[in-house]
Amino acid sequence: MCGIVGAVAQRKVQGILLEGLKRLEYRGYDSAGMAVLSPQGALQRCRAAGKVAALEARLEEAPLAGQSGIAHTRWATHGRPSEANAHPHQSGERLAVVHNGIIENHEQLRRELEAAGYVFTSETDTEVIAHLVAREYRDAGDLRGAVQAVLARLDGAYALAVIHADEPGVIVGARKGSPLVVGVGIDEAFLGSDPLALLQVTDRFSYLQEGDVVRLSAAGRVEVFDAAGAPVTREVQTFEHGDGAASKGDYRHFMLKEIHEQPAVIAAALEGRLGERSALVESFGPDAEALFARVRQIHIVACGTSYHAGMVARYWLERYAGVPVQVEVASEYRYRQVVVPEDTLFVTLSQSGETADTLAALRYARERGYLASLAICNVPGSSLVRESDLTLMTQAGPEIGVASTKAFTTQLTALMLLTLALGRINGLDEGVQVELVTALRALPGLVARVLELDGEIEALSAAFAEKHHALFLGRGAHYPIALEGALKLKEISYIHAEAYPAGELKHGPLALVDSEMPVISVAPNDELLDKLKSNLQEVRARGGELFVFADEQVGLEEEAGIHVLRLPHVHEALAPILYTLPLQLLSYHVAVLKGTDVDQPRNLAKSVTVE
Ligand code: G6P
Repeated sequence: MCGIVGAVAQRKVQGILLEGLKRLEYRGYDSAGMAVLSPQGALQRCRAAGKVAALEARLEEAPLAGQSGIAHTRWATHGRPSEANAHPHQSGERLAVVHNGIIENHEQLRRELEAAGYVFTSETDTEVIAHLVAREYRDAGDLRGAVQAVLARLDGAYALAVIHADEPGVIVGARKGSPLVVGVGIDEAFLGSDPLALLQVTDRFSYLQEGDVVRLSAAGRVEVFDAAGAPVTREVQTFEHGDGAASKGDYRHFMLKEIHEQPAVIAAALEGRLGERSALVESFGPDAEALFARVRQIHIVACGTSYHAGMVARYWLERYAGVPVQVEVASEYRYRQVVVPEDTLFVTLSQSGETADTLAALRYARERGYLASLAICNVPGSSLVRESDLTLMTQAGPEIGVASTKAFTTQLTALMLLTLALGRINGLDEGVQVELVTALRALPGLVARVLELDGEIEALSAAFAEKHHALFLGRGAHYPIALEGALKLKEISYIHAEAYPAGELKHGPLALVDSEMPVISVAPNDELLDKLKSNLQEVRARGGELFVFADEQVGLEEEAGIHVLRLPHVHEALAPILYTLPLQLLSYHVAVLKGTDVDQPRNLAKSVTVE
């Protein structure tokens, strides 16, 4: 978490750094800060608690002039969100550092530095890096060498950038476990946690690898060294997505824009990947056909919303591809003694490709004898993509809203492609394959029709704004969709929401149901519909107000206490994708009514690169 930007330019860098921070706010927004080296070689720093806008206001009053600098937006881990804990952190008046991640042995290092006379001014783990590098620099007189020596003493996962007033026009960066990219400009060079931060100045990037140290200097010089300090070359790639994703366009929030992009991005996720009768297995990579033929089991690992996509996929893969599937959150999986049956495919799902727990799970899995690893991810060049044997990009384009929307539905689309590819290999009935392919082709159009219900969903949202709790129910593959609906509502409207498989209602949660507990249910026209209807009656009989999203062909009538919103008929396999949309819209409108910060809800961050 936390966002880093750096620039060594031929112009003043304050504006570039500030714009980069705004684009990185999704990584955290507890405080922001910037350090710039003045033309006279002085280190100037400005910091502010709260969002980047607070820093911007301070910089307007007292701009920082200079052509090289580093900046940071923070998601607090060690030490509360305050100006004193905001980055950059300094050692003396000549060295500043910004850092993303956690230094696990910081307490021991802090004790050592305090004993040596260093005075700490923050509660952060980052400040130990500043003092360690300063001490090393005193002896070595070379910033890159000093940073490289200090890295050997740091335990944990991090990305960092350092400047020193004695080396004007130089930034040294390093990464281990957290992302850092180099932006290649014309006689200028940049650093960022994410290419998105730098798209206003370049579309050419070098992705640093684990353990790399980079030195940026005047005239756009970029030197990369591996963990052992040997010079290495990292390929420069052109970024594929346009810059439009970083602006809200005509929408009030990024989340709303991203919800409305779903017809287009689902179509993009399908593009070139569907044949007449099935999914094109080569979409997963040249080795996929041979590897998929050997798959006997699948383990799916992910976090947050991505985990919910994995839960849906289990229903699909077991039903249509006949492969047993386990799904687990990465933070649990990585600390378990996992038993891996022969010929098991390991699948990670991640919007960012940088989630620390998911990455660690992949690295753990690689030592446990899996057949192969497949990453379904939205960010090309991310660590997860680079470290997996097979990949499928979800093509959602950058997602800025912290609450994931289009990334989720494109993950589901990609997982249906995986289901089809494995289904064909495992002898899925041809008629069913064609049915699913046809349904997938029609999906973007149906998604667009659901978006037309926005006004009706907005009208429903008023019933939630004053409530403190909500219960989501679903059965089968719609249980994970209920979980995702509850997650969306709690993330952005701060209403406590829980999801239950509808059949479990009578085993506990029914005790909570009264007129203050709205109950939301998805009721596609599938084989579990009759059972779901009985569960809904159980709620109604206890005075609970019901909100049912139902297939237009389902005979469910509006009556007192039961609100029914009808969705276009969809193939039952794809209903989990379609029924996600009204739940996204509902959460969005409730949050807007409540006046919360929709795109950047409190305490959260988009990309969680710490454990
Ligand atoms: C954070 C985000 C969630 C996301 C989760 C997993 O918690 O706020 O929206 O689902 O991380 O992220 P990933 O990038 O691995 O999908």
